[in-house]
Amino acid sequence: TIRIQADDRSRQVSETLYGIFYEDINYAGDGGLYAEMVQNRSFEFGNPLYSWRHVTEDGAAGRVTTAGEAPLSENNPRYLVIQAELGGLGVSNSGYGGMYVEAGKAYDLTLYGRVDQGGEQLLAVSLRERDDTEIGACEISIVSGEWQQYGCTITAEATSEQAKLTVLAVKPGTVSLDMISLFPQHTWKGRKNGLREDLAQMLADLNPKFLRFPGGCIVEGGSIGNHYRWKNTIGDVAERKVQPNQWAPNYYQSFGLGFHEYFLLAEDLGAEPLPVIYAGITSCHGQPPMVPLSEMQEYIDHALDLIEYANGDPETSEWAAKRAENGHPEPFNLKYLAIGNELWGTNYYTRYKMIYDAIKAEYPDIQLIFSAGAFPNDMAYHEAYAWLAGNGNPADLVDEHMYQAPEWFLSQADRYDKFDRHGPKVFVGEYAAHGVGRRNNMEAALAEAAFMTGLERNSDIVAMAAYAPLFGRHGYTQWQPNLIWFDQSRVYGTPSYYVQHMFSNHVGHYILPTEITAEQPVPSPSAVRGSILLGSWMTQVEYDDVMVTDAEGEVLFSADFSEDNSLEVWSPASGNWRAENGVLKQSSLDADVRLYLQQGQDWSDYTLSLRARKT
Ligand code: AHR
Repeated sequence: TIRIQADDRSRQVSETLYGIFYEDINYAGDGGLYAEMVQNRSFEFGNPLYSWRHVTEDGAAGRVTTAGEAPLSENNPRYLVIQAELGGLGVSNSGYGGMYVEAGKAYDLTLYGRVDQGGEQLLAVSLRERDDTEIGACEISIVSGEWQQYGCTITAEATSEQAKLTVLAVKPGTVSLDMISLFPQHTWKGRKNGLREDLAQMLADLNPKFLRFPGGCIVEGGSIGNHYRWKNTIGDVAERKVQPNQWAPNYYQSFGLGFHEYFLLAEDLGAEPLPVIYAGITSCHGQPPMVPLSEMQEYIDHALDLIEYANGDPETSEWAAKRAENGHPEPFNLKYLAIGNELWGTNYYTRYKMIYDAIKAEYPDIQLIFSAGAFPNDMAYHEAYAWLAGNGNPADLVDEHMYQAPEWFLSQADRYDKFDRHGPKVFVGEYAAHGVGRRNNMEAALAEAAFMTGLERNSDIVAMAAYAPLFGRHGYTQWQPNLIWFDQSRVYGTPSYYVQHMFSNHVGHYILPTEITAEQPVPSPSAVRGSILLGSWMTQVEYDDVMVTDAEGEVLFSADFSEDNSLEVWSPASGNWRAENGVLKQSSLDADVRLYLQQGQDWSDYTLSLRARKT
């Protein structure tokens, strides 16, 4: 028997409770969400020709090498040189185990080229099947002795999961090439340098309220000098310095998907951006080596500059001006910043405090997140809390990570019931149930669901939570289980994904006290009351616009449905649907716009009017 006190409105559900944590692990970014189809487009991997093959055709002769004497840029020091004695010499790239192209779809090829010898060079660019059957082609003339960007579009004539891109110099002569890139013309939200539509849509369907990025241990980088430098990940992609990805050999970060793109993604998802910044410590878990305290200012400045990049005024701030140059003059409205990932111990605390003090002095409203480390290192966790308490609670949120057996998650469903409500809020920044063989399965998903009832029931103190890791590319993983799996053409959600989906798409506004009586021990339930998405069950009428007017007929709210929007209406004042409901039942709203009447306002003073466009 479950008893629910349905009228209790004393505790509100956190508006940011369910979000996502993104890290470029398991080829989540390069080879995944980032729609670039070419692997090692800039020849900067340890083996500069990694993922590239020589191609000789029609009796071609000559050399294909990489060089670095006169590069495109200091940040992009190596490039490809084709010395063709007879035509038909070049390279091919099959991306990550074969490119997926669809018949009738267009793919944009761009590259930088320079004629080094022999005059204007013609490049034959094609998409080919594994057996070299051509399934689409275009041509580029390299005309200048200086680096210039060129492009052409290929329309695929057939569908293939194993396609490759081939670039051949047709005439005798020497030509240098760099940043050889291929993107589907359709990316998510149509953004240039954008995201794979199917993968991004899986994220959007989760309706996440925050996006934590770019990692994970990748923030620390695993070795000296390999930490994440956000400043290298904005602006012209040809200028973004490639770095090894700590998760595997021959896995590199192109940073084509960088901080600017993460901010855009958060904006497109309607999620709060939540960057994790480098705290001067090189490995996850706070082990040496680390930046000496005397050199920490550089990293503190990086954090301050990031806040300016996200929120500053382009007229007065150097970093905000760069944001505007990159196409986004409006601020990104950054509210949260995590200092370091999965760190603990004195080395971390000292550096954390330096960054915390500097940020709070200039930007007191930015919510700062302290890392309490990962379970089962419960010692570190308690130590972290003790340190915070002993230092006057210098954190707005505390980030704890959990990768544990399903039984552990079941046993922790009531973990936050007894948590102190006066300290920092809790951010469960990474969690996943790891069962036998670390496979995604129903047992893990159910354990996570049970645990999530505890997150939701306590979401007055648990402000945010995210499953981890987010993505795994089949055949390219370093970690499992993962929330979403994919290959070049397919994507699917795991049972854990649908647990996240279910919770995240049914968040209420108020936590209702519940009591359960059962013959056997069961996890405590969670009950919330709140919004109902009309669009999910109305199918007959479409509306142009919707208005909320007060008793005098003055419009308080209006929403335009000419775009692909949906409507959610709920009255916190009464908690009940009103007679308008009967009318709404006839409607079809497929939308994004949400109307909330503020708590305390009397619903009866307002009229909701919907104008029908067609029936
Ligand atoms: O999610 C995978 C890894 O797990 C993250 O990079 C790290 O924070 C944690 O140890």
